[in-house]
Amino acid sequence: MPKLTFQDAGISQEFETGARILICANKMGVKVSQVCGGDGACGTCRIEVVEGWSHLSPPTPDETYKELEEPYRLSCQTQLLGDAIVKVAKIE
Ligand code: FES
Repeated sequence: MPKLTFQDAGISQEFETGARILICANKMGVKVSQVCGGDGACGTCRIEVVEGWSHLSPPTPDETYKELEEPYRLSCQTQLLGDAIVKVAKIE
């Protein structure tokens, strides 16, 4: 099973292939802002991908519309397909 690491929190856990990163973060106890509850609308659940960009599902229209570019993703729209290391992104 793919392993997800939140580098800033210093914790890792394995999840089913296809698990959404926001749900994984919630299960790991990592605090990620999620104003719209995972609908892809608010843009607050941003993460920075440190390693494993190619082990994530492709960006969704909600992400391309917001012009998010590598290394940033919306965690509610991103599925884990292989090992990845991420950080909670600071929102300016
Ligand atoms: S939780 Fe709102 S865009 Fe992800």
